[in-house]
Order: sequence, then structure tokens, then C-alpha cells
Amino acid sequence: MSVSYMTHPLIKHKITLLRKTTTGTGEFRKLIEEIAMMMGYEALADLPTTDVEITTPIENCVSPVMSGKKPAVVPVLRAGLGMVNGILALVPSAKVGHIGLCRDPETHLPQEYFCKLPEEIDQRQVVILDPMLATGGSAVAAVDAIKARGGRKIKFLCIIAAPEGVSTLMQAHPDIQLYVGCLDRCLNGNAYICPGLGDAGDRIFGTA
Ligand code: PRP
Ligand code: URA
Repeated sequence: MSVSYMTHPLIKHKITLLRKTTTGTGEFRKLIEEIAMMMGYEALADLPTTDVEITTPIENCVSPVMSGKKPAVVPVLRAGLGMVNGILALVPSAKVGHIGLCRDPETHLPQEYFCKLPEEIDQRQVVILDPMLATGGSAVAAVDAIKARGGRKIKFLCIIAAPEGVSTLMQAHPDIQLYVGCLDRCLNGNAYICPGLGDAGDRIFGTA
């Protein structure tokens, strides 16, 4: 698995704002979307293209367009939903699937409660979205679920990761590409990322 850590100063700046307890729901949602768009721009740099003939107001020319099946964007519910519009701003024609996973508050193990993916998933570039990679349990389960339904070319975008989550995902799925907005220090006793940003789903949806 390749792991790419974001270095762009704008991504770093926006992640700092995201972390602050004083950042309210509306601003938090906007930041998640903006960071997802900037990470998506980097992560989709290898999308395949093909040359087509077009006519400009000046002359005819050959110019590249995206080729192959449209990418499949797959947010992990709930928090991944906050990243979807950022990616769709880049690739409006992308298909969108959903995976519902929830961590058990005691064991911290993920439980799948929903999975619906675009058809011909095996022929699409799959982009999984989840802002938080903590123990890695949810990420491993999300990739398991997509592979079980035929997905092969998989990228995983997370905004904040713990070292534990990165190594768990790398060991379970060495063939995927992981993009990390910021690598944090560690997990606490409740398996929350430190310093992190708290509960991403609650902060996006204003729940407690
Ligand atoms: C959060 C987060 C990830 C998961 C990460 O979701 O969005 O999916 O925890 O933790 P892990 O790496 O230890 O599995 P949560 O289960 O809280 O559900 P929610 O998005 O519905 O709040
Ligand atoms: N899920 C979150 O939303 N935040 C964490 O820090 C860990 C898991």
C-alpha cells in the first residue's frame, strides 16, 4: 500500500481550524468539504485520460478527457458524507455508493449496517471517504466490503489518522492507496485520536 501525506499549506491551515473546539457546525462542514476537495485533487492525479478531437473558436485540435468508467465515491457513514461534495465538485459525473459502519462504544469494533455500491464496481476507481482513521477497524471493514462486491482499484482518503490506524490498514490491505491529511500522535483510552478533532460525525451533523 502506498501512503501519501498531504503537504499543502492550505490543507494544513484548514485542518488546524477544523480541530478547534470553537469551530461551529456550519464552518466545520465547510472545512471538511474544502479539505476533501484539495485532497481529492491530489489523489485523482492519476485518473486515466484519452485524446479526443474538438473544435475551438480558433481551430480543430486533439485534447484529453477522462476515460473509462466514472469513478465511484464511497463515503463511510456518517462522517464520510461530509466529504462527498468536495469530491463531486471535482468530478460531478462520479457515481456515489454508501457504506454504513458504526463503532461499538465498548469494543470499538465496527458494525456494518448498510452497503450499496454503484454497478460494475470492479471497473471503477473507488474513492472511499472517511475523515477519521483511528484504530483502522472501520477502514479495514469498508475496504473488505468493497472488495467482497468486486472493487479492485481502491483509494482511501482520511483527513486525520492515528499511526495505529495507518499500520492496521496497511497490513490488512497492502494493495490500496491511502491519502492522509495529517498524521496525529496516538489514540487515547477511548480510541479517539489525539489531538484529533473529537467525534467527526457529531461535529458535522450537530449531534452529541
Ligand atoms: C468514526 C469515523 C470512522 C471511525 C474511525 O465513525 O468516522 O468511521 O469512527 O474509527 P476506527 O478507525 O477506530 O474504526 P463512528 O463509528 O463514530 O460513526 P459515525 O460517523 O456515524 O459517528
Ligand atoms: N472517530 C472519530 O470521529 N474521532 C476519533 O477521534 C476517532 C474515531
